[in-house]
Amino acid sequence: NIDPGKIEAGISEKTKAILPVEIFGNPAGFDAVCKIAKKHNLPVIEDSCEALGSALKGKKVGTFGTMSVFGFYPNKQITTGEGGMILTDDDDLADLCVSLRNQGRGKDAGWLAHERLGYNYRLSDINCALGIVQLSRIDEIKAKRRQVAEWYRQMLSDEDRLIVPVAPADCDMSWFVFVVRLAEGLTMEQRDRILQQMNSRNIQVGNYFPPVHLMPFIAEKYGHKPGDFPITESASARAIALPFHNHLTKDQVAIVCTALKQLLAV
Ligand SMILES: Cc1ncc(COP(=O)(O)O)c(C=O)c1O
Repeated sequence: NIDPGKIEAGISEKTKAILPVEIFGNPAGFDAVCKIAKKHNLPVIEDSCEALGSALKGKKVGTFGTMSVFGFYPNKQITTGEGGMILTDDDDLADLCVSLRNQGRGKDAGWLAHERLGYNYRLSDINCALGIVQLSRIDEIKAKRRQVAEWYRQMLSDEDRLIVPVAPADCDMSWFVFVVRLAEGLTMEQRDRILQQMNSRNIQVGNYFPPVHLMPFIAEKYGHKPGDFPITESASARAIALPFHNHLTKDQVAIVCTALKQLLAV
């Protein structure tokens, strides 16, 4: 997650909002981020796409920001096939979003009155029906994923070449993915070898996430290069996303952990 201690140094007269992400479902630090935003009179756009159902100190994600966004792509805790939602308790912002999603139509003027440039971002009733049913199962889904995360944590707890994720004590975490990191000092080459060998054993793992600033489009548009964000790059270079979904069994988790430990030992 964003380091709240580093935000203020980055705020300038050009700053329009703070956009923190509850990465992998973890809401840690969001209360601190909101305090800083308030002090500087900046809106927070809370990216809760990976964290549906998480809470920090009893406060649900999606309720911290001026606006928050959720995504329901199939890899998420619940899915509508595609699509997402925006939450806000600001009526004007809500009206604006409804208009933008509906090709710029206004609130009361009718179907053929476009008040602004808008888009067709409407989520169909069919997609919504899927989402409503899935939402009613969120506690069950959360519990299943928490169990899988717990098995991984137990089985990898003796592995000091790995940094294993933990839900902070004050967080009720809705696990999105389970991403371990190779310990400090291990290299991207070692990580990539492990990824390749796990995948060749049909255990699907990924380099989740590569740094955004080095994506070709962003790097070219903003002139970023390796070394610009060393903490991000170091974490990313050592990250391994392990197989993770609601229906993983303890035996399957054990197969993944055994293979990972074998490859770490080579
Ligand atoms: C943190 C985060 N933000 C935004 C998105 C984008 O969601 P969508 O592609 O549904 O708009 C995702 C989806 O993967 C995400 O994980």
